[in-house]
Amino acid sequence: MPSAVTFWDKAAPGYAKSTISDPDAYHATLTRTIHHLSPTDRVLELGCGTASTAMDLAPYVAHITATDISPAMIEIGREKVWSASVRNVTLLTGETGDPVLSDGAPYDVILAMNLLHLLPRQADALAQAHALLKPGGLLISKTACLGEKWYFRPLVGALKLIGKAPPVLHQTLAQTRDAILNAGFEPVEELVQSGIVPRLFLVARRR
Ligand SMILES: C[S@@+](CC[C@H](N)C(=O)[O-])C[C@H]1O[C@@H](n2cnc3c(N)ncnc32)[C@H](O)[C@@H]1O
Repeated sequence: MPSAVTFWDKAAPGYAKSTISDPDAYHATLTRTIHHLSPTDRVLELGCGTASTAMDLAPYVAHITATDISPAMIEIGREKVWSASVRNVTLLTGETGDPVLSDGAPYDVILAMNLLHLLPRQADALAQAHALLKPGGLLISKTACLGEKWYFRPLVGALKLIGKAPPVLHQTLAQTRDAILNAGFEPVEELVQSGIVPRLFLVARRR
């Protein structure tokens, strides 16, 4: 079983070239995210991939520190940010829970897009996000809830055996929501996106 770093490093070139699977759903949550941002915000993004979302959000905030466990994702992200002359996004290799992520804390907003279901130590990552936010700061997440469909467990299990799926959590929408709120957050806005993979978009305020 490859480690998360090995899996995502290998996936990075293909991920960078792939198109957004559901553009309407992406833009719906991007628009809702922008609604919660302000020009003075300092943002930390966890699991940023190749920085596509960070680049889309950069015009709406003061600065984004975009982080990812995969050095290959970060390298591609750096090239994209440099080529597009985006000056307020800094890319950093870092795993959730890693103390290196605290360097710019406290943050106004933390983003975790398509990430929380990939974290075996999800509770630790949420506790760190809580600690790195200003009081009243926002955690904005979008999470695949694989536990909503029974067939994801055997499907992902088979894909894992051939190295085509990373370690994942099979949480339902309710379990994902509870995990976030139990980490010390109160809900601000929620959207459930149904589709092949049901996703929970949740904006939550640090209590
Ligand atoms: C499905 S991709 C999502 C990328 C981006 N947020 C997006 O929405 O397009 C998941 C990303 O999370 C990263 N990742 C996985 N486990 C991680 C961890 N423990 N800490 C930080 N990043 C992680 C992967 O390297 C990958 O880039």
